[in-house]
Amino acid sequence: MRGSSCSHMDWLELRSTVLACTRCAISQTRIQAVFGVGNQQASWMIIGEAPGAEEDRQGEPFVGKAGKLLNNMLTAIGMPRETVYIANVLKCRPPNNRDPKPDEAANCRGYLERQIELVNPALILVVGRIAAQNLLQTDAPLARLRGKEHSAPLSGTPVIVTYHPAYLLRQPADKRKAWQDLLFAREVAARHAR
Ligand code: URA
Repeated sequence: MRGSSCSHMDWLELRSTVLACTRCAISQTRIQAVFGVGNQQASWMIIGEAPGAEEDRQGEPFVGKAGKLLNNMLTAIGMPRETVYIANVLKCRPPNNRDPKPDEAANCRGYLERQIELVNPALILVVGRIAAQNLLQTDAPLARLRGKEHSAPLSGTPVIVTYHPAYLLRQPADKRKAWQDLLFAREVAARHAR
């Protein structure tokens, strides 16, 4: 969504707008839109790519296998799932879990920006290349995005990038590097604590 047509919305209005959204063709193939979940005053916000099959069924982000690993990662760093806010770049499941198209990400952008504004977290942890490139509006590869403090456009919130948990399930050897990212995120969050 270009422009700021939802920049005035409260949680209730934003949620009902997202759940009723038909801006993209993928709204026709979803079971339901997946808005986001968690502590609306969280100091950490987690941003993923898009709902998968299980998320589409349950209406909640990160409830499948990748979600279980994400929960374990969050618990390990002392920020269990119920303490954070979790959302995706796309609110609808792309068919066959294909990558989001640029126009789909653009249609959804205002929703995510408003969620960030409403939560006003001290830190955003972005998981995976696609989510990071979309949030930060860059083509840089994940390897160049990890290990640095970025700023979310508009809000200026500190952003740390790490691997997507679905990738870590396929490449468990990289879990050690993901742990380094989480330690770095904790350090940045402490510096920006509200
Ligand atoms: N992967 C994501 O990026 N988001 C989800 O909600 C589930 C899997």
